Amino acid sequence: MKIGESLPFGFEDTSYQAAGGYQGVINLVECFYQYLDTLPEAKPLRELYPKDLTRSKDKLARFLSGWLGGPRVYQEKYGEINIPRAHQSMGLTEQHKMLWLACMNRAIADQPYSTKFATYLNAQFKIPADRILAAGSTAPTR
Ligand code: HEM
Repeated sequence: MKIGESLPFGFEDTSYQAAGGYQGVINLVECFYQYLDTLPEAKPLRELYPKDLTRSKDKLARFLSGWLGGPRVYQEKYGEINIPRAHQSMGLTEQHKMLWLACMNRAIADQPYSTKFATYLNAQFKIPADRILAAGSTAPTR
């Protein structure tokens, strides 16, 4: 690493810092759920979430903190998590995935991120989203 060169995203907590720390993560999550809750085309995805999104917001913000290299505050409150497994009985489809990524894409665009970080983050979210679908998600049996 040459002097003056910044560390790449994904190294230690560089992504977490680029996102603006915990407050930055909260802003991103708030914005994501705002799109999820209001975009008419996101309705099929919105239906999978509880009416009150408070807990969903807390879970996603806490998870993303650790995922971005910051404090692992999800585990402190909710325990260990495996993302494909956590999503496996929700009956998720390719359409749900595209809608989730579209809401996240818009939320990222609304943040004061550099273009470089925004592009990086969009590509990073695609990885677990693809894994969730590849692992299979069967409809809940009630
Ligand atoms: C394929 C796209 C995705 C869809 C359709 C989707 C949908 C959902 C739904 C419906 C829930 C349950 C509602 C709730 O309890 O909050 C949920 C939970 C969650 N999702 Fe996703 N999700 C997707 C991708 C992701 C990705 C990429 C991440 C992280 C990088 C993520 C992180 C979480 C977390 C942490 C929870 C809470 C799990 C728990 O504590 O039980 N999701 N997701």
